[in-house]
Amino acid sequence: MTTQTPGTTPDQVSDFYDVYNSLLRKYWDDNFHFGYWLDDTDDSSVAVATDRFTDIMIGKLPVGPGARVLDVGCGIGKPAVRLAQKTGASVVGISINQQQVDEGNARAAAEGLAGRVSFRPANALELPFEDGSFDAVLAFESICHMPRLPALREMSRVLKPGGRIALTDLIKLDDSDGSAADAGFETQALPRYSDYPALTAAARVEIDELTDVSAHTNRTYAAMAEGITRGTDEIVEQFGPGVVNVLQAVAAPLGPSASVGCLIMAGHKAG
Ligand SMILES: C[S@@+](CC[C@H](N)C(=O)[O-])C[C@H]1O[C@@H](n2cnc3c(N)ncnc32)[C@H](O)[C@@H]1O
Repeated sequence: MTTQTPGTTPDQVSDFYDVYNSLLRKYWDDNFHFGYWLDDTDDSSVAVATDRFTDIMIGKLPVGPGARVLDVGCGIGKPAVRLAQKTGASVVGISINQQQVDEGNARAAAEGLAGRVSFRPANALELPFEDGSFDAVLAFESICHMPRLPALREMSRVLKPGGRIALTDLIKLDDSDGSAADAGFETQALPRYSDYPALTAAARVEIDELTDVSAHTNRTYAAMAEGITRGTDEIVEQFGPGVVNVLQAVAAPLGPSASVGCLIMAGHKAG
């Protein structure tokens, strides 16, 4: 147990996930992203709500068989495998965390997709791919760990001109002062929705859609808190007393006045 928050460097993020991969899998889902609930009456499970969010993001990527998609910050590969299954596209997923890459490749093999879906360790800030080598890029709740402009520039670089990019990001909500967000579990400073046009323009990405989906994802906090509460004894037993700090780090941004929202950006690389 060496890490309590994701930190700001790729190595720190990887160390963080060495701890959190198993916790997330057990007390959240194999989708390492927010859930998307339709409305206040929607009682979908975390598994359903997170897969629903994946499907929404897949819908932002007009790809089919023969297309090559890069999944930047792929987690343990659940979204990439679903993307490949639903569209017929080939997907390359990259993560800074080796455990995730191994899990992703095991998942692709188990689904009979090893020929079309693969995962490899790489730093999103130095993508090991040629310019213009992908038809589309997905960055599903991963840019929140990275300095955004360099990361977006790398994604834009490896995209073909006109290629599509779809991402989700965590944002400070306009009605908060942002302090809870900055003290939260994503330690890169969070942007606001209104920061996105300038950010994407600087990376030569033209926005086709920018949507604040916080009202749909907000239930994530309560659902996560529920998972942590359900697992606290077991988590402490498994990881020892030091885990208290980790739990606090996870729990910090949770709560009724959640000041961290979520946006979807879909755009294309300027020609
Ligand atoms: C919140 S998880 C999202 C995972 C996945 N997209 C999903 O939706 O299940 C963030 C992901 O970003 C990856 N990540 C963070 N910083 C990275 C970097 N510099 N290079 C590559 N991957 C990175 C993490 O390893 C992790 O896979």
